[in-house]
Amino acid sequence: MRRLALILLPCAVAVLLHLWSAHRPPSSSSADPLDNDTLSDEALPSYEVLVGVLSARHHHELRQAIRETWLGYLRDHPHFQHRVGVKFIVGKHGCPIPEEDREDPYSCSILNFTEPVTGKDAEVEIVTAADPSVLITSDVSAIALDFKVLHPVVITRLGVFPSGTRPELQSNVTVKLLQLDQEEAVVTARFSAISTGTMVNGVWYKPVEQFILPKGFEGTLVWESLDSIGLTTVNTSSVQLNDGGGVLKISSIAEGILPHRSALGFPGLAGGFTFTIYDAEGLSGLLRGRPARMEHHASRLRQEDRALQRESLRHGDMVFVDVVDTYRNVPSKLLQFYKWSVGNADFNLLLKTDDDCYIDVDSVLMKIDHKGLKLSNFWWGNFRQSWAVDRIGKWQELEYASPAYPAFACGSGYVVSRDLVQWLASNAEKLKAYQGEDVSMGIWMAAVGPQKYQDPGWLCEKECYVDMLSSPQHTAEELHILWDRKRACGDPCGCPWSQ
Ligand SMILES: *[C@@H]1O[C@H](CO)[C@@H](O)[C@H](O)[C@H]1NC(C)=O
Ligand SMILES: *[C@@H]1O[C@H](CO)[C@@H](O)[C@H](O)[C@H]1NC(C)=O
Ligand SMILES: *[C@@H]1O[C@H](CO)[C@@H](O)[C@H](O)[C@H]1NC(C)=O
Ligand SMILES: *[C@@H]1O[C@H](CO)[C@@H](O)[C@H](O)[C@H]1NC(C)=O
Repeated sequence: MRRLALILLPCAVAVLLHLWSAHRPPSSSSADPLDNDTLSDEALPSYEVLVGVLSARHHHELRQAIRETWLGYLRDHPHFQHRVGVKFIVGKHGCPIPEEDREDPYSCSILNFTEPVTGKDAEVEIVTAADPSVLITSDVSAIALDFKVLHPVVITRLGVFPSGTRPELQSNVTVKLLQLDQEEAVVTARFSAISTGTMVNGVWYKPVEQFILPKGFEGTLVWESLDSIGLTTVNTSSVQLNDGGGVLKISSIAEGILPHRSALGFPGLAGGFTFTIYDAEGLSGLLRGRPARMEHHASRLRQEDRALQRESLRHGDMVFVDVVDTYRNVPSKLLQFYKWSVGNADFNLLLKTDDDCYIDVDSVLMKIDHKGLKLSNFWWGNFRQSWAVDRIGKWQELEYASPAYPAFACGSGYVVSRDLVQWLASNAEKLKAYQGEDVSMGIWMAAVGPQKYQDPGWLCEKECYVDMLSSPQHTAEELHILWDRKRACGDPCGCPWSQ
């Protein structure tokens, strides 16, 4: 009887996945009836403050809540309507791939599986070293290979290459399978000259406790040897890794420039592992159902396009930027909006917020009047300092190599001067998108060195204070409640006569 155990993603990741799923954009077609609302040159509207509200395509309800609260108040206010312009920033394209067929909920990459050819329980070897001439002796004491699970698999054996070109194992090698960024190994196998395991296709294997690695699992396989004989690796140009028809995404061996690598080892491989596809029938079913799902999804996207077009015509407050509307593309949405804004509006200050944020517009405008904010090179926000870089999950960062980000303003609200927006717009093609628009903005701004005005009134978390300028992560209903209280008694957090 085989023992199976399920590895759960760490709690935080699971919760994040869950939270995101509630916001997952249902997406759209490439034929776009959505035109950006470029205005003619002579009619550039002029504002003191231009507000850009990042919004996902399907967040119709949140946009409506904002129109019925702080945006409606600005629009109807005799003075503020001339001082402030507000635009929702929405991706012109929905992701054409149905959610079930995506690698993860944050991007728009298709799960590129082939039909599992193997029979039930057939083991897949990620590498074979049948020709020993591909083996080369390594002079490092740890080698690591990253992989991501795209369809659940069961790890069955861990393996190591022989020492040199003869099928012998002379060194002590420990092979560990770790969840990325976790200390403790999921499974471990120890090899030595007197305990080599079994050789299959040029690799020594030992069976391990059989765990199901769920979809989304990001792992690292690490080979360690403190012996002088050390590890054997392969000439990377001469091996082909077997990903089981796409159920695993195995990092190219040449990659691995990131700092977490150096903690675990040199990127490459010093052996292999074997796995079986969990629920291969489910995988076949997923593939069979794909054409119908694609068709259904395409028709939903066409509907969504039409609904967005109607919404935009009706309210005139949406800017469609030429980006596929996914979480990973939010930094690009922002850059595209900056480009749009310098070409299509005249303004002194730009306030960036999200569609789930409450904004105390009276206080923001009052502070602008009283603070004597400079009109150039400044950034007013609530800054996070020395924020650690995440390597997995929703906030996974694969581009930025330092362990901590430069200071960045929380995304619920910040204000930048026009010259900075102009700099961002003119460098938009050169600026790299990092994970999250808030940290991306921090990295981009680090190159300019604006004067930062720290103000805790722009809340980073879903909290409530009477004097807050912004507060994130609200539902449409909560946005209404906060606003109604603010109008009724001046305190969004509760009025004396209710709670
Ligand atoms: C899917 O995988 C196959 C084989 O691995 C590859 O040739 C093809 O380019 C991939 N397609 C996409 C859209 O990634
Ligand atoms: C492997 O480990 C054993 C026991 O710790 C030790 O006696 C032996 O010398 C080691 N082998 C090598 C090649 O260092
Ligand atoms: C790796 O293999 C390629 C092609 O087979 C060969 O040209 C190259 O010299 C090899 N590199 C090493 C380090 O053996
Ligand atoms: C908006 O559309 C016009 C013409 O359709 C195009 O020239 C312009 O580049 C677009 N702007 C953005 C920001 O997509």
